[in-house]
Amino acid sequence: MPVISLDAALPSQQLSVTPPRDGLALRGRIQIPGDKSISHRALMLGAVAEGETVIQGLLLGEDPRSTARCFQALGAEISELNAEKVIVKGIGLGNLQEPGDILDAGNSGTTLRLMLGLLAAQPGCFFSLTGDQSLRSRPMSRVIAPLEKMGAQIWGRRQNSLAPLAVQGQVLKPIHYISPIASAQVKSCVLLAGLNIPGETQVTEPALSRDHSERMLKAFGADLTVDPETRSVCLRGPARLRGQAVTVPGDISSAAFWLVAAAILPGSDLLIENVGVNPTRTGVLEALAAMGADITQENQREVAGEPVADLRVKAGPLNGVTLGGDLIPRLIDEIPILAVAAAYAQGTTRIEDAAELRVKESDRLAVMARELSALGAQVTELPDGLDITGGTPLRGGAVDSYTDHRIAMSLAIAALGAQGQTVLSQAEAASISYPDFFATLARLCGDEG
Ligand code: S3P
Repeated sequence: MPVISLDAALPSQQLSVTPPRDGLALRGRIQIPGDKSISHRALMLGAVAEGETVIQGLLLGEDPRSTARCFQALGAEISELNAEKVIVKGIGLGNLQEPGDILDAGNSGTTLRLMLGLLAAQPGCFFSLTGDQSLRSRPMSRVIAPLEKMGAQIWGRRQNSLAPLAVQGQVLKPIHYISPIASAQVKSCVLLAGLNIPGETQVTEPALSRDHSERMLKAFGADLTVDPETRSVCLRGPARLRGQAVTVPGDISSAAFWLVAAAILPGSDLLIENVGVNPTRTGVLEALAAMGADITQENQREVAGEPVADLRVKAGPLNGVTLGGDLIPRLIDEIPILAVAAAYAQGTTRIEDAAELRVKESDRLAVMARELSALGAQVTELPDGLDITGGTPLRGGAVDSYTDHRIAMSLAIAALGAQGQTVLSQAEAASISYPDFFATLARLCGDEG
């Protein structure tokens, strides 16, 4: 009997996971899809640069597709998306065209928030922007506030805080923005708005968030300095961006599902190839190391300005830990799967300082607390985190992704170590960031052929 089966007849897919009674071990080597954050940035910077950008390894998930569609509507020529090679013919900064229709960012917060910075700084053009139901409930005030300080004109629902949004592009002025939250989307939005403005646009953040924008802007020719001591970035505009060759490494946020799966399933030994290990993203490796996981980095190298390695993970006992403070922005997207690791660890794991999870694609604290509890885990929801006491064996049950890609994949991994069948509803959400997730899962479970 196959371990994994997907009911594709439904408009919303149901995944059934039935682990064998004597357990499952994941062995071999796998490749993971391209980094989502880097894929968005490569498409956007390619679109506003002069000349051609050639992207290798682009993530083919729904989110980058939303970015590509929006920038095509804004006038950039983008070839058919495939992982080998995508060519973006840039139109140059300040040359975005006013589209005749609404720009739809789908489920993607990064698309909407980063794009807003570029559009707000496009004088004379009017833009309307929207997204799916999840995105229309996520706070946009965090990017609208600094943009308004720069002189932007933006309107939205609920006192200008929710999409759909309307933007009347303006000539902006540079600011030094002291951000109240450690958010790469906020930082990147302000920097992108600053690209076409003469003078210094600065952003200071309370803790370090992912720095892919800074790295890629420099590679495209922007005059930008980073002060790690004060966590400040200073961009001197106007910039002239030139198209580049970008190689997108594998997404550590996608690798995280396999890291945890192999760590918790006895007998596993998995090599995950070509994973981006930018230090602003490797909080998950630190957290799992603190839990006692056996993970080693092999073949460390640098590809197109980003550190990359192969990760080998072997199963072994995990223990509970406390995760909080400045570590949180460096593992923000991995908290759902770390909660799964915690449910399989001995002792209590406390996740704190993570209230930000309540405004992701779903309220990830509430959803993980409820859905892991449905599988028999001992979880207490905190205002800004979770308390998870592991050690009790999980049992199969009915769970739901709440249309959140990271929840879908985290629950599928949780089910692999549970006793009996788990049925996951709205499993198709995984395609936002990892279209091949279930195929890889089936292969690793030996369901092929
Ligand atoms: C992202 C930044 C993070 C992250 C998101 C992608 C980015 O969001 O959660 O999945 O590509 O800049 P915040 O900046 O809101 O923390």
